[in-house]
Amino acid sequence: MRGKFITLEGIDGAGKSTHLAALADLLREHGHVARTTREPGGTELGERLRALLLDSAQVMHLETEAMLMFAARREHLDKVIEPALSKGEWVICDRFTDATFAYQGSGRGVDWARLQLLEEWVQRGRQPDLTLLFDLAPAVGRARAGRIKPPDRFEQERDDFFERVRAGYLRRAAEARSRIRVIDAGASIADVRAQLVEIVNAICL
Ligand code: TYD
Repeated sequence: MRGKFITLEGIDGAGKSTHLAALADLLREHGHVARTTREPGGTELGERLRALLLDSAQVMHLETEAMLMFAARREHLDKVIEPALSKGEWVICDRFTDATFAYQGSGRGVDWARLQLLEEWVQRGRQPDLTLLFDLAPAVGRARAGRIKPPDRFEQERDDFFERVRAGYLRRAAEARSRIRVIDAGASIADVRAQLVEIVNAICL
């Protein structure tokens, strides 16, 4: 049987990376082989593209940025995601195409319709079975982040950029209600985890 494809989304600081590991453990408790991966990245070439995309010294056109995200995604689908799903593994991915609509579309201003063309070209109809959107006010995310390492190309953006990103995510959620579950990431870690357990129990039935 084919595995399921689950993606985690949200603005920087929303806590999705913390919950990714917990989600994988929950799925393993249900007897699934759960593989975690991330975007941009997940393949050798994809990780090299990620380094360019996150390098705060790297200047690029906003459409170049969008196309590189999809280029990395094409590799990822071909080399990692599709083969794993075919083997019956569950794939949990830290960010996917909703991030491109939110960051490059709503955040940077790339035309939403162009992104839809790239989405169709690269994914050929493939969509995650489930997307968890960790929704949080940017000011709260920033306060939580408390970073030691210097900010990358995205983290150095201001709150108004992340307000647009958040709105872009919520627009995607409104357009795909059955796929995208919005989680209140402002709640405590225990509360968020309880929501995750409930969702996982429902999809593992
Ligand atoms: P992130 O997933 O937050 O990793 P870390 O926890 O190591 O900082 O970093 C990836 C960044 O890439 C994040 O700021 C969002 C951005 N991004 C896009 O702008 N578009 C995309 O399509 C994807 C997948 C990510």
